[in-house]
Amino acid sequence: MTVGVDDRNVEGVVRRAAAAHRDQRGALLPVLHAVQAELGCVPQEAIAVLADEFNLSRADVHGVVTFYHDFRREPAGRTLVRVCRAEACQALGAERLVAYAREAGLAPGETSADGAVTVEQVFCLGNCALGPSVEVNGRLYGRVGPDGLGSLLDGRASS
Ligand code: FES
Repeated sequence: MTVGVDDRNVEGVVRRAAAAHRDQRGALLPVLHAVQAELGCVPQEAIAVLADEFNLSRADVHGVVTFYHDFRREPAGRTLVRVCRAEACQALGAERLVAYAREAGLAPGETSADGAVTVEQVFCLGNCALGPSVEVNGRLYGRVGPDGLGSLLDGRASS
């Protein structure tokens, strides 16, 4: 589903972020992070402005945005569920979690129709020994099974 960025000035956000990081080596990545922090994603409208700021082609900027899993093209839902699919978590059953999420209509990268939940895949949350690992709005959960993921998706996670 397309949630859409609100009417904030995308160009202004991008140009301010670029100005703040312009002298930094490899400035595009921190600027992308700053844009996403402010807008919730790196919207399509930002690509042309970034290309202009960094004297790159739009294809170059698009390539960077799509290469890194951290960058979203649309804002996440109110609850962001990140499922680790790196090797250690895969060995401990992460793919069962992804299958469960798909069956619930939330393939990695998708947001529920009501905008409540977004599921993303990540590649290591630094909790490898306690996999499969899932992060919900920045909070880390370990040894998550399909039932546990169901609870997290429904907002029924216990603290
Ligand atoms: S491999 Fe999943 S937390 Fe490291």
